[in-house]
Amino acid sequence: MSLTTKHLLGIKDLTPADIQLILDTATQFKEVLQRPIKKVPSLRDVTIVNLFYENSTRTRISFELAEKRLSADTINFAASASSVSKGETLLDTVNNILSMKVDMVVMRHSASGAPHFLAKHIPAAIVNAGDGINEHPTQGLLDAFSMREKTGKLDGLKVAIIGDIMHSRVAMSNIYLLKKMGAEVTVAGPPTLIPKYIQQAFDIRVEYNLKKALEWCDVANVLRIQLERQNQVLFSSLREYSLAYGINKQLLDSLNKEIVIMHPGPINRGVELDSDAADSKQSIILQQVENGVAVRMAVLYLLAGGRAENN
Ligand code: CP
Repeated sequence: MSLTTKHLLGIKDLTPADIQLILDTATQFKEVLQRPIKKVPSLRDVTIVNLFYENSTRTRISFELAEKRLSADTINFAASASSVSKGETLLDTVNNILSMKVDMVVMRHSASGAPHFLAKHIPAAIVNAGDGINEHPTQGLLDAFSMREKTGKLDGLKVAIIGDIMHSRVAMSNIYLLKKMGAEVTVAGPPTLIPKYIQQAFDIRVEYNLKKALEWCDVANVLRIQLERQNQVLFSSLREYSLAYGINKQLLDSLNKEIVIMHPGPINRGVELDSDAADSKQSIILQQVENGVAVRMAVLYLLAGGRAENN
């Protein structure tokens, strides 16, 4: 079994069998991560650069840890501390790094399509660690892994994705993945933060009433308001957003069932999610972060040509 793609640019390009293979391989790596020695030699002699043109806490650390657990050699590149500030282009930067014999590139960029551009111009395998408002495929995969681990299924699972759908690459990767794997998806939030095309384009439900969305779902994946990507006023204030779409424990307790709460981070506490909900027993937010390492190990391992039975 191997992936049908050389790069991981988006969930859009994966087949259901690719997704299944990544999730099943991640299950094996999660078992490795429970051992006293959490390291395997799978990517010995493979060199990976983590190219971050945009800030990150979880994704950057998670990739670096995944690479180290697989025994790869890793280089961390932050654009803010590089010659990018002197005007060097993306392609020049990457070609200079690749000339030092780097095999794989993990890349985050604020421009949608930046990793796709790079994939057309360089020979190394590329993993998209989030591009603008387009996709964040490893977040989609770790979210799906966490949902499957918690509920036992993806097929038939009812998932509500709540909040700033318009500016969210996490929403896009979740929608592509969940639809490919047979889940039912509702997006919920204010009409101004939900693209008009989304219902027809993806065959999903749209719900503007938060409580109805929560009553319907098994899992709520709550998203952050992406203030840094808003170039127009799409809601009146954070306080009013929180009153209409913020989730707290009182609201969760008023539902007719116990749903699972997820969030990709970073959380705007008191805006989309109150601490009493984010830190409740229903929340699997820190399990998502934990699972991210195993999922990224699986992605890197499979893109490097690995086979699951070799671990
Ligand atoms: N979930 C996520 O992408 O978080 P970071 O921006 O901290 O990597």
